[in-house]
Parts: sequence; C-alpha cells; structure tokens
Amino acid sequence: LLGPGCLLLLATLLGPLVVGSSVTIVCREGPRRSVYEKQLYGPMYKVGMGRFNSIALNSVELLEELLRKDEKFPSRGDMSLWTEYRDLRGIGYGPFTEEGEKWYKLRTVLNKRMMHPKDSVQYGDVVNEVVSDLIKRIYHLRRISPSGDLVTNLSNELYRFSLEGISSILFETRIGCLEEEIPVETQDFIDSIAQMFSYSMPVAMLPKWSRNILPIYRRYIAGWEGIFKFSGKLIDMKMEAIQKRVETDQEVEGEYLTYLLSNTKMTNKEVYGSVAELLLAGVDTTSNTMMWAMHLLSRDPNAQDTLYQEVSHCIPGDKIPSAQDVNRMPYLKAVIKETLRMYPVVPMNARIMVENDIIIGGHFFTKKTSFTMCHYAISQDEKTFPEPSKFKPERWLRDGRVRPNPFGSIPFGFGVRGCVGRRIAELEMYLALSRIIKLFEIRPDPSIGEVKALNRTVLVADRQVNLHFMERTKQSCTLSC
Ligand code: HEM
Repeated sequence: LLGPGCLLLLATLLGPLVVGSSVTIVCREGPRRSVYEKQLYGPMYKVGMGRFNSIALNSVELLEELLRKDEKFPSRGDMSLWTEYRDLRGIGYGPFTEEGEKWYKLRTVLNKRMMHPKDSVQYGDVVNEVVSDLIKRIYHLRRISPSGDLVTNLSNELYRFSLEGISSILFETRIGCLEEEIPVETQDFIDSIAQMFSYSMPVAMLPKWSRNILPIYRRYIAGWEGIFKFSGKLIDMKMEAIQKRVETDQEVEGEYLTYLLSNTKMTNKEVYGSVAELLLAGVDTTSNTMMWAMHLLSRDPNAQDTLYQEVSHCIPGDKIPSAQDVNRMPYLKAVIKETLRMYPVVPMNARIMVENDIIIGGHFFTKKTSFTMCHYAISQDEKTFPEPSKFKPERWLRDGRVRPNPFGSIPFGFGVRGCVGRRIAELEMYLALSRIIKLFEIRPDPSIGEVKALNRTVLVADRQVNLHFMERTKQSCTLSC
C-alpha cells in the first residue's frame, strides 16, 4: 500500500541494511524482523539501503512523540514512482501522491462522505449486496470442494470481495468480481493492478537508464494504463449519466462518485487520480485483514463462539445486519481491532518532516529526515499488550478494564493524514464477518501447516490459506436470541 510510492519505506521493506554501526544485516524474514531489530539496537536506529536512509522508531513512546509533532501537511515521503506516470499522462494526483496545501484541499473534499462514522451508514446497503454475493460464492465453493465444506485460497476470494466492495462504492456500479466467470474487462483490470504492484519494486530499485533497455518499466507503465483505462471508463459513464439527468432537469442521484463529480472544487482530472488511488488502497488492506481475522477465529473456538453468540443475539432470525446494528456488537469490533494489532496490514509507515527540524527521543534531526514507524513490532510489545502473541479481543472491550495505550496499535495511521477509507473498510469487514460467522463455524485446514505473516508492503500470509465452513444449525445460539 504505502511502499510502492514511498521509496524509503520500500527500501526498509526489501530488507534493510543497518547503517551507522559496524553491523550490517540483510534480512528477508517476515515482519518479526523489526521485533529482533529492537532487541539488537533499541527503540531508535538508522536503517538504509543505497541512497535511502531512515530513522526507525520502534517504541510506543517515540511513535507518539513523532506523531504528536506531525506537521500541518504531513508527508510520508517521496512518491515519485507513482507521480511519474501521472505526469506522463497528464492525470491529476490523488490523496496518496499529492502533498502540501494541495493535498489538504483534496482531502477536505474526499473526507466528506467518508471519514465520519455516520458517513459509512449510507453505504450499508451497497456493501450488504456485495456480502450477499460473497456468501453465495462461499456456498458455491464449498459445494464443489471434495469435502463439501472447504474454501481454498481464501485471500483470493476476499480480494475479489474487497475489490467488488470498494468499486461498488466508488463507481456506483457492480463489476462482477464475485461472479463465477469474471467479466474480461474486470479481469484485465485485476491483472493490471497486480502487474503495476509487482513491477513497482524493481522499477524503484533499478537506475533510470535501465528503463529503455529492460522490459520492466514498460510493463510497470502498462499496469497503470490498464488501471486508468478501466477506472476512467467507469467514471466517464457516470459523468454521462449525470449530464443526461442535468439536461433533462432530473435530480442528480448517487453517492460518492456522483458527489465528487458534481463538486465544483474538484476537476475531472483530480477525480480520475483520486478514485484510482482510493481503489488501490482499499483492496489488499481490507481483504488481508479479513483473511487474518478468519484465520485467527478458526483457531480460537471460544472467541469464535463469543462472536457467534453476540451476532445471533443482536441479529435474530434471518435478518441482515445493517450499518447501525454493528454499533451494538462490541465484540465484533474488538475482533477486528485485535486482528489489526496482531497483523497490522500496513506493518510500517513513514513520515518526513518537510518544514522543520525536530527533536525526537532527545535527539536532534534536521528537516527532511525520514522516520520509519515500526507498527508491527510496537503492537507486539508486551508492556502495552500482555501476552502479545495471544488473540484476545476482550482487551479492547469498554467494560471497565484498563484500555491499552492508544498509540500501541494504530493500524489506520494517525491525524489528518490517517486513512481516509477507515470507516468504509470497517463497515465492509463488520458486515461480512458478522454474516459469515452467523452462518458458518469456520475451522482451520490442518493440511496447510502453520501460517506465518510475510511483509509484502502489506502483511500477507506466507501460503495459501484454506478454511472449512461448517454450516450451523439454527438452534446453536444459547443467548436469548
Ligand atoms: C483494513 C483496512 C485498511 C487499513 C488497515 C488501512 C491503513 C492505512 C494506513 C496505515 C494509512 C497511512 C496513514 C498515515 O500515514 O497516517 C492509510 C492511508 C490511506 N488509506 Fe487506508 N487502510 C485500509 C483501508 C482503506 C480503504 C478501504 C481505502 C479506500 C476507500 C483506503 C484509502 C486510503 C488512502 C487514500 C490513504 C492515503 C491518505 C492520505 O495520504 O491522505 N484505505 N491507510
């Protein structure tokens, strides 16, 4: 998510060299590397690779200190990898790539209808339609599996769900990711996203002169072409529909895209740039978090049962949970919070102080210093989270217990530059998980072995995750349903 654009962060993700000491380490392990680095170097150390250098902050105190000193227009660093293509094609920047005052103005428009918990309520029906299709697909996949209850390659299925979910909100139309046969144009779009991401790393690392010799850059650009071709077409269709309604004096109806396109503060160029970036940020993040939540629940029958009891109690019979119903399900929210603590899908993030020098942890840093925030390691710290490797959703319940330091786990980032899609992501995950758990008891597939996390810019599983979906009988709720 953040790596392909943030070159400095990319460098740390590829396996940093620890510089400024006699020790040089090149690690290609999972995200636990940052946990070991803290044991070796303490809470603050310099990481770097080639021309990329950064100060790693690896304690909750330092993280809080840095974020509390966030600038008016916070920056995550060099986004030239993404902006180059936009400059080449004359496409506007979106929330990821824009900086400074222009970024602030863009976010002011984008935040409306997205950032407030109340905003997400309006997308409840749209998301529920997509959840219904996911459930149909789960039934279908179980049916065709040899055991009659197995869903293989869950990440792939949830990727299709998340892409369909965010597209249905952003484009106000369905694109068929959950159909048995994905439409050709949609498949091309999915392939383009994968192509752009997979060529991002080599493009960032290779010198510019290699671009005319090696095919890598051409393929990277082709990925972007496919992304903008597809999203541009859907935006143009919406634009035409709006124009037709305006010409015939009909009321302009719609949600997010209609709001953006009818907003006089945003040019069409900016809408193209922003919609593509919202889309790219909203797929792997949500789908992998869902995958980790289901993986954790499948291995913890007690937690799964507590969740099932809560959902059955709040959503009796065949009722479909609404966005408002979610507020009566604290354990459901706690499950997602705990999942994101154990597997923060964005395990590292960055800030660059653009305007001012800064003091952190008693050390002076000149402006333009880059800081890497080690979220994965910080949310595993046993001082903040006793028994950190245990899945304990109850840590997050507001039932009188002492709640953890809020900076201990900030999976959606912090402050004005924090995640714009948070409310939508949460809504998608709550609505999908509550319905799935009500219908099925999920169990692990022992044949896949121990699943570990890999840091591929977002936190993914190191192998294909399969789960058994055992259909529940209607009487299994013991609370007064
Ligand atoms: C589980 C799901 C998600 C997680 C954990 C997540 C996490 C994050 C994080 C950590 C950041 C960086 C924040 C910072 O620097 O302080 C971010 C930024 C961003 N996210 Fe998300 N995200 C998720 C889903 C989404 C969705 C669904 C969308 C789109 C609707 C989205 C759109 C964005 C955008 C556009 C930014 C850049 C904001 C800016 O720079 O102004 N995210 N996200």
